[in-house]
Amino acid sequence: MKKIIIGNWKLNLDHLEAIQLLQKLNYSLDVDIEEKIDIVLAPSHTSLRSLQTVVDTDKLKIQISSQDVSGYLNGPYTGEVSAAQLSKLNISYSIIGHSERRTVFNESDELINTKVHNSVDNNIIPIICFGEPDELRTNNEFLRFILNQVNSAVKGLRKDKVDEIIFAYEPIWAIGTGKVASVEDAIQVLSTVKEEVSKKSFFDEEKTRFIYGGSVSPSNAAELLNSKIIDGALVGGASLDVEKFVQIIRSIKL
Ligand code: 13P
Repeated sequence: MKKIIIGNWKLNLDHLEAIQLLQKLNYSLDVDIEEKIDIVLAPSHTSLRSLQTVVDTDKLKIQISSQDVSGYLNGPYTGEVSAAQLSKLNISYSIIGHSERRTVFNESDELINTKVHNSVDNNIIPIICFGEPDELRTNNEFLRFILNQVNSAVKGLRKDKVDEIIFAYEPIWAIGTGKVASVEDAIQVLSTVKEEVSKKSFFDEEKTRFIYGGSVSPSNAAELLNSKIIDGALVGGASLDVEKFVQIIRSIKL
């Protein structure tokens, strides 16, 4: 399976800074790596058009993702950005159900499921995030919690609509804390999710990736990313630093 490294820039960088970071990243990577690993950047909505224009004009291999997509298709929903609008910009992916959206913006499992449908209906690959808060891990209830999040997110998906999907395990206690999940913990969750998802009619082994996110850094990337089960990483803080991000990408043994 081709590995994927996604940089989630969150609420950082204006569009000029975003272009600079994209170009710096591109200069730091050789074409060989870019062909063997999918490298994706998820900037704020305001930078999507600028970055996609640079990618198209300079024929870069780096791909662009949005950080979110609306649950609505069009109409009187001030502030929303639809899947069709993203698709028109040639955006390839959208992060959906990030824990920051679930907790800070109270996004429900139902809304996340609608966003997943809107994405696949508009040829945008959903990066579906899930993960438990600290108290559930210590209570050992986290697997049930996670499977519930995953099952809700993919409810009603049909094989003829779905091309690729990415499932991203991001334990809330590991996000931005420097406290990374152990490889064993990440593998346990991702294999359990894979087993569950592989029962679904839309599942395609070749086109479904299972990745990890939460305090991924140059010091822990090699161990996580060279495991057969972990198909890639969703990187927050370290993706804003080109050197660190490149080190993470280079830690994958090709
Ligand atoms: P950090 O890498 O900063 O922990 O963030 C992870 C994340 O939320 C990526 O989506």
